[in-house]
Amino acid sequence: MIHFNWYKPFEKGNNKTVIFPKDLMKKKTMGKYTYLLENKLKKILKVKNVVLTTSGTSALMMASMALNIKPNKKIICSNLTWIATINPSLILGAKIYLVDTDKNTQKVNFNKLNKTIKKIKPDIVILVHLTGEVAENKEFTSLKKKYRFKVIEDASQGMFNKYDNGKYCGTKFEIGCFSLSVTKIINMVYGGFCTTNSNYLADKLRTIRNNGVNAEPEYAKLELPVMKGLNLKPSDLHAFIGIQNLKNRKLIVKKVKEIFSRYKKRIKNSKITLIETKNISIYPSVIVEKISKFSKFCQKNNIQLHYGVRCLSESSELKQSSKKFPNSIFCSKNLVRLPGGPGYKLKEIDRIIKIINKY
Ligand SMILES: Cc1ncc(COP(=O)(O)O)c(C=O)c1O
Repeated sequence: MIHFNWYKPFEKGNNKTVIFPKDLMKKKTMGKYTYLLENKLKKILKVKNVVLTTSGTSALMMASMALNIKPNKKIICSNLTWIATINPSLILGAKIYLVDTDKNTQKVNFNKLNKTIKKIKPDIVILVHLTGEVAENKEFTSLKKKYRFKVIEDASQGMFNKYDNGKYCGTKFEIGCFSLSVTKIINMVYGGFCTTNSNYLADKLRTIRNNGVNAEPEYAKLELPVMKGLNLKPSDLHAFIGIQNLKNRKLIVKKVKEIFSRYKKRIKNSKITLIETKNISIYPSVIVEKISKFSKFCQKNNIQLHYGVRCLSESSELKQSSKKFPNSIFCSKNLVRLPGGPGYKLKEIDRIIKIINKY
């Protein structure tokens, strides 16, 4: 029986065992490989600072603390994203305003976002680059200058995609947050990082990562915190794995693009509409008629689907009337992610397409 997982991470060769260098065994948390991975990411993404951490969620928490999110601060966020985007703001007690997406895409609706900005004058806007769809808009950038709010980019699903001006998404505004978990384009099994061009913010992020102590753990003599923080330091062992995967990034990106274009060319079923993107999308997403019937059909044929992200307005913490968010609610109810990820063989993808074309 063939069992298709919705995501397969990249393996170069079959059953290849990773041998860990001896010096790694001596380290428990940060060390040589953490700094090496930070430097490599810095060069690749062309950004001044990278601060590696334990997950994308940790990166978002660090960014939210570094930008002083706290009670009475006003935060705007897209209604369609993974809850990790907004959890730090919720935990820190901020006031959250949700905005609907564009029709049939997973991108925030900039008309509505810009209107909300003018109305509420936020402290922070969190821009999410979901499944590689880069969220950008000229009016938004000029409103940022006018109202002087800060921007956190959640680029957890957007790594290696670029803005129109050629900048990598996650590097344009104050702080970018990325996930390096196993379902992302590059993984270190579990990890994430913040990017920033501000040395001041980078210093703050490193301090938050180290329980509020303003020194790298190896050099801390006086362990006195200067601000609030947590232990969000990554393990060197995982950073080592991240470096190995980063070395294969060109092959990985090529494979992910090939998978997406197969779906695009070969899905010939009017009940299934692929959400198109010119960018690198690790989660090929489709809008389907009668989602529960489709789900049963796929289950019967051993194709495992993922339901994608759901609307924040449907979560118990942020419950709001669905009337305000017609487009994101529509996606939430009708969108699924097809099997993706660079570990798939193209013939597996072809087989999936052949099956779903019969739905
Ligand atoms: C949009 C988005 N933000 C944040 C995260 C959190 O990343 P992590 O799972 O590494 O904590 C994810 C993870 O899937 C995500 O998709």
